[in-house]
Amino acid sequence: MANDLENLKNDTIAALQRASTHSEWDAVRVGTLGRSGTLTGLLRQLGSFSHEERKERGQALNRLRDELTHLIEQRGREIEALALQQRLAEETVDITQPTPTAPVGLIHPISRTIEEITTIFGAMGFHLAEGPDVESQWHNFSALNTPKHHPARTEQDTFYLPALEGEEELRVLRTQTSGVQVRTMLQEKPPIRIIAPGRTYRADHDATHSPMFHQCEGLVIEKGITLGHLKGCLTEFLRAFFNQPDLPVRFRASYFPFTEPSMEIDIGWSRETGAIGAGADWLEVLGAGMVHARVLSNCGLDPAEWQGFAFGMGIERLAMLKNGIADLRSFYESDLRWLRHYGFSALSPATLTEGL
Ligand code: DAH
Repeated sequence: MANDLENLKNDTIAALQRASTHSEWDAVRVGTLGRSGTLTGLLRQLGSFSHEERKERGQALNRLRDELTHLIEQRGREIEALALQQRLAEETVDITQPTPTAPVGLIHPISRTIEEITTIFGAMGFHLAEGPDVESQWHNFSALNTPKHHPARTEQDTFYLPALEGEEELRVLRTQTSGVQVRTMLQEKPPIRIIAPGRTYRADHDATHSPMFHQCEGLVIEKGITLGHLKGCLTEFLRAFFNQPDLPVRFRASYFPFTEPSMEIDIGWSRETGAIGAGADWLEVLGAGMVHARVLSNCGLDPAEWQGFAFGMGIERLAMLKNGIADLRSFYESDLRWLRHYGFSALSPATLTEGL
């Protein structure tokens, strides 16, 4: 082989060895076999040789082209395999590394408390009922025997909303869940056992009052229901909720327009330490009573035939007492530190404690 061809071959082989990336390799390929490549240039110059020389040199050049093409392709495959190896090495997963855990959501104490309350009443045969947050004055007040002049209706306590089209009376954001009693009695035939947790609203805002808060309403309508059933049911509930079989429970006469007689229910606690079930003090936790005959008739039930009791409780209050939460406002501040501290794992749902 002519010297210049030998040199070209050696140079190309050396350049291929130096190339370690695809683009370096491609530069060698184009520089040799491309349109302005060295070998292509030599082939083009063939015409300037004499007939004899041309034949011999032409054959030599063709052989060289085949040889270099083969070498270039081979090196190309090597470089590709090398790159793949490198990528695999970089991408290996070190399974001994600790994995970052995704943040886990927690159940808000209000949701948890509602879950606990419904679990306990569910075991006593109660069903869940719901009503709208925007209520008519009739459902929220009138049907519940709360007359027009009653102080609870004043603008200081109640948020009023525009009347529906074609109606005169303003609507309200419900001030209590008691309206769900009315809706249930109108919709269902007794016997009735329902509880109705939900949001309620009052124009009040300080350390112990929030304009939006939660209540849970209860209603039982059956034949022959007495005050004894009310006392038994609510005592059982409070003892299960606070997980204290001997929790002292006191029924104290009170007044609500929709019950007669009415009572407030206290549990024993210590004012000094805040401990539930200990100490000589009493703490109010529930309102209740026998459903007023006028409420029964307003809802289409004959008071001579049906009796029942109703009760209502503040969910935040129960959640604060049970979980040692001091400030009502913290429920709504969405402070992650607070939520992480007081939140409940979704993997430990509310279940009944033994004995119920
Ligand atoms: N609605 C009352 C309140 O907001 C709570 C209540 C008391 C509900 C007595 C009742 C009841 O059903 O019988 O304070």
